[in-house]
Amino acid sequence: MKLKSKNFESASAAKVDALLVGCFESELRTGLEAALGAECGGACARQAQTVNFTGKTGECFVHFPDGKVEAKQVVVFGLGSKQRLYASEFRKALTPAFRKVRELKACEVAVAPLPTYQVPLGSHDLGETLAVCAGLIDYEINHFKTARGGHKPQQRLQKLTVLTNVGFPKRVREGLESGKIIAKAVNRARDLTNLPANILTPRRLAEEAVKVCADSGGLIQPNILRRKAIEKLGADALLAVSAGSPQEPYLIELTYTPPSGPTDKVLGFVGKSVMFDSGGLDLKTADGMRTMKRDMAGGAAVLSAIAAVAALRLPISVKAVMAATENMPDGNSYKPGDVIVKTLGGLSVEVDNTDAEGRLTLADAIEYAKRQGVTEVVDLATLTGSIREFGGDVVAGAFGNSGEFTKTVLAAAERAGELMAEVPMFEEFRAANHSDIADLKNSGGSPGSVTAAWFIREFVGKTPWVHLDIAGVSYRTRELGLDPKHSTGYGVRTLIELARISSELSGK
Ligand code: BES
Ligand code: MN
Ligand code: ZN
Repeated sequence: MKLKSKNFESASAAKVDALLVGCFESELRTGLEAALGAECGGACARQAQTVNFTGKTGECFVHFPDGKVEAKQVVVFGLGSKQRLYASEFRKALTPAFRKVRELKACEVAVAPLPTYQVPLGSHDLGETLAVCAGLIDYEINHFKTARGGHKPQQRLQKLTVLTNVGFPKRVREGLESGKIIAKAVNRARDLTNLPANILTPRRLAEEAVKVCADSGGLIQPNILRRKAIEKLGADALLAVSAGSPQEPYLIELTYTPPSGPTDKVLGFVGKSVMFDSGGLDLKTADGMRTMKRDMAGGAAVLSAIAAVAALRLPISVKAVMAATENMPDGNSYKPGDVIVKTLGGLSVEVDNTDAEGRLTLADAIEYAKRQGVTEVVDLATLTGSIREFGGDVVAGAFGNSGEFTKTVLAAAERAGELMAEVPMFEEFRAANHSDIADLKNSGGSPGSVTAAWFIREFVGKTPWVHLDIAGVSYRTRELGLDPKHSTGYGVRTLIELARISSELSGK
């Protein structure tokens, strides 16, 4: 999609398939007339009354201008109240508008100058939010439908022109650029997570990681550990999980160094990358297994996020780690009751349930990230089914060992518009992972999401850490907000915002 911004252009003259016109509750008629001229604006205002459009955020209707302006269709959307137009509210306002654009199959779209004087939304955020919303709603799933099977390619948004009357058109343009990078990264994560496990194997994920490095112009460097190297390293928890699969495990490490040089602070992004989770010998049910190609959504998020951090040239060192494997039943599988004598972090673990594999792979991945010098860690994992009892398919659960870092991650999520809430880790639940014959066991019963987080925490130690359980939000059976059905790409935007906040905090 091409993104442009033009200064001081009359919206009436825009020859496009759809013209987006945002207006505030308080100035419905005047706003429409200012954007579309007296004739078309007046007709729009009358239609607004008929369809009960009042300008609230979330409202939207299509007007047929019948030649009164150059655009074929006009999409009017509510901006709510002036005082409350922050980026988050603007996002909510744009969501139905771009959904309409999609429904209309409009290829060329212009946005009329928004009356954004005296609103909290700045020029940069205006551009960025527009590009993110347009890019995220324009997503089409990477399908395998063929012309032979009757598939016709969909008409998509090709060109978005933002007409501005603000004082800082350059800032709008910069916002459009960064928004495009962000949307591309989220869509990349969606694509990876939607890919079936027969195609996106651990090896293929490693190849995708190498591609990300190649596209970064040398700013991201790969270090890919194959079986031999993983054995030598001693990541026995990862090896235990992968034992039942003919697919070889890969430990993938990506290092981003800013053009301005490395920083003292090194952000660690660790993503659960179980390419398929059958449950292992503790086999899942057919229903429970059906969508388990998605068990690498965390890995997809960290891979895509580090790509965006590099494209944005953020001045903070970042490292992404993925322990890629399958969890399969086989004669070679790890078994209930097995003991992993020495995980990479040195703790022994009794295997209570082979379906609690994610925390084992994460334990080794986090220990590895720490050895490679990360100073703060966020892990993203489709870790527990029970997190859905906390947040459904709407809110992710955040667990942490440092109040301050948890606050920073929650603030990043808020800025990014991804719903997330902290789940307390009471010390009382720690003992649930107690084993009679090893340091820990890998499943500690109820509350499943908290005991799982405690398991990981034992390996984290003192490094500031936040664990995001994204089992509920990374994949949905319905459309929601800016997200399509199936994979959502959850977490990418939060990680990018976290890198932004962290680079501000580190003052470089
Ligand atoms: N990948 C699953 C968690 C999951 C479930 C993700 C549903 C997305 C949707 C994870 O590996 C798992 O199987 N967890 C078990 C742990 C239990 C055996 C201790 C769970 O949550 O039931
Ligand atoms: Mn599992
Ligand atoms: Zn899993």
